[in-house]
Amino acid sequence: MFMRPHSPNLDVESILPRDAGEARRGGSGGGRGPNGQPEGAADAGPTVADRSIGALIAQTRNLGPEQVERILRHQRETGMRFGEAAIALGLASADDVMFALAQQFHYPYAPEERRRANPELVALNQPFGVQAESMRAIRSQLMMRLFNEGQPRRAVAIVSPDSGDGKTFFAANLAVVLAQLGGRTLLVDADLRHPRQHEVFGIDNAAGLSGILTGRTEARVIQQVAGVPNLFVLPVGVTPPNPLELVERPAFGLLMRELLTKFDHVVVDTPAGCYGSDSGVIAARCGAALVLARKDKGRIAALQDLVANLAETPAVLAGVVYNEF
Ligand SMILES: Nc1ncnc2c1ncn2[C@@H]1O[C@H](COP(=O)(O)OP(=O)(O)O)[C@@H](O)[C@H]1O
Ligand SMILES: [Mg+2]
Repeated sequence: MFMRPHSPNLDVESILPRDAGEARRGGSGGGRGPNGQPEGAADAGPTVADRSIGALIAQTRNLGPEQVERILRHQRETGMRFGEAAIALGLASADDVMFALAQQFHYPYAPEERRRANPELVALNQPFGVQAESMRAIRSQLMMRLFNEGQPRRAVAIVSPDSGDGKTFFAANLAVVLAQLGGRTLLVDADLRHPRQHEVFGIDNAAGLSGILTGRTEARVIQQVAGVPNLFVLPVGVTPPNPLELVERPAFGLLMRELLTKFDHVVVDTPAGCYGSDSGVIAARCGAALVLARKDKGRIAALQDLVANLAETPAVLAGVVYNEF
């Protein structure tokens, strides 16, 4: 019943949520000006908005009253905005300012009920925690290495040797921090063996990627995540008996290419490397892979094999992340 390899449903418009327009092209700035201000906000004046941005930055960087006073003095002397002054004095990074702006404009704090329902979404639930901070640092690296202007558009596959290494957790939180920057972000669950993103986000999994790849008509299967602006998830749907065969079909590569024209960032969750060549095939279609290694667990040899397999694909290796928990 899964045998329709040459008639994939690639009407991408039909699988998008109803209100999904064109992705804002031009990278992840999400319509921000050169200094991180949302476009059009340049003349807003250094009043209410700047004060709360200042408070957010001070909180993110744990700045004391003296440091805040130094920034304010520098701001007065130069006429800069608070964030710019903090960067100029080395008291905050551009990423901190972007994050504070994203907070202010997109309200990434999760309401209490959602926090209980989705405890794994640490980037959303504890935006000032160590984990969220690490995710933003990794986001910065990816922005420089993969998602900058002039590079071919690529999706990033999150791969690792074993189950339990944290791919699903990491992919979900990476998608959250990318969406917080303001670019339209899609998380694709391509772990057709043990799909879990629908659980992490508490979304419907009746239909999804597996249906698209088998040529079934799956309207509106990309779901917008409630409470997280710019974030969309494509779940797996029915778990298929032939996962490797499905991702090897040309339909998967075509779908990824189409989705990259609709979203600024595409993050793809994959099955563990130990299950077979699925993750290598998926990474090849995505164009880039980020390898996750669970610190002090698993074998180095398995990691080396995974990286060696990736090297034989056209996928760019974006880096290796150690997951300590
Ligand atoms: N950095 C982390 N901090 C806290 N919990 C984590 C972290 N990484 C993974 N986990 C947890 O470990 C378990 C396995 O992670 P998961 O993402 O499902 O692994 P994989 O997708 O590689 O099989 C999950 O319960 C997940 O929430
Ligand atoms: Mg997983």
